Amino acid sequence: MNLLKVADLTKDDIVALVERAARLKGLHKKGVPQSSLLGRVLGLIFEKSSTRTRVSFETAMYQLGGNAIFISGRDSQVGRGEPIRDTARVMARYVDALVVRTFGHDIVEEYALYSDVPVINGLTDLHHPCQVLSDILTVIERRGTVEGLKVAWVGDGNNMANSWIEAAAVLGFDLKLACPKGYLPDAAFLANACVGTKAKIEVVGSVEEAAEGADVLNTDVWASMGQESESENRILAFENFQINSAVLSLAKKDAMVMHCLPAHRGEEITEDVLEGPNSVVWDQAENRLHMQKAILETLLT
Ligand code: CP
Ligand code: NVA
Repeated sequence: MNLLKVADLTKDDIVALVERAARLKGLHKKGVPQSSLLGRVLGLIFEKSSTRTRVSFETAMYQLGGNAIFISGRDSQVGRGEPIRDTARVMARYVDALVVRTFGHDIVEEYALYSDVPVINGLTDLHHPCQVLSDILTVIERRGTVEGLKVAWVGDGNNMANSWIEAAAVLGFDLKLACPKGYLPDAAFLANACVGTKAKIEVVGSVEEAAEGADVLNTDVWASMGQESESENRILAFENFQINSAVLSLAKKDAMVMHCLPAHRGEEITEDVLEGPNSVVWDQAENRLHMQKAILETLLT
């Protein structure tokens, strides 16, 4: 089994992952050592930068008794053009699972096709499933459930937005997305994600409409990795798509402000809101560790 996108999972799968992650978090806080992945090795192939995803996966392996090997695109033969299908087959002879962070989603799909061991998407241009699964854990820790919650997405219709869309569709919560024209989630992707769901997933006309009465306010950078050359144009297009105190005041009083990080203060989110009492961003970052453990155990044992 692979984990390439949230829609690879059922509602029961996600509930089980959240429960296991919460249990592992509790055991870790109590200092109870774990050894479920003793002798197992995780390979990480990253063609984009990372702090959280890399360190949380590596630490998760060590804390479960296993090991991890990090390979940056630059230093490996991947960076010199060795075909993905060759790399995937070779790596699968060494390691027990692979985390891949790359550009095109087709690249991670090709790894999965040719690898005999599970492939986990550590972020592509289209999806960031492990982040959103741990974000669901963060929400459930505070609210007990995601059912009946109103979630808002403000900003770019990017990989994070896509994974939130799939999470809403699978778990059945309402999601309102406010994105500038030209930066909406792909219409065909959105329509396809919504097939058969009872969730109300809609693109709305303004940030205010998305934020009104929201339980969760979510945003992400205006220019993602690989879009650096578009930064100047994006700063103009996204000017009014910011989570600030005025936007926060429209949401529920105890609304959670979420950001996968890294954040650009003064762009998609203001300093006061990021550092304020509604922000849960540091818990989100911590929960990456606990959710990665649950994902690894599920795929490897
Ligand atoms: N949120 C996230 O994936 O962070 P990194 O890019 O640091 O891994
Ligand atoms: N959308 C961002 C997320 C970073 C974790 C990016 O792809 O760069």
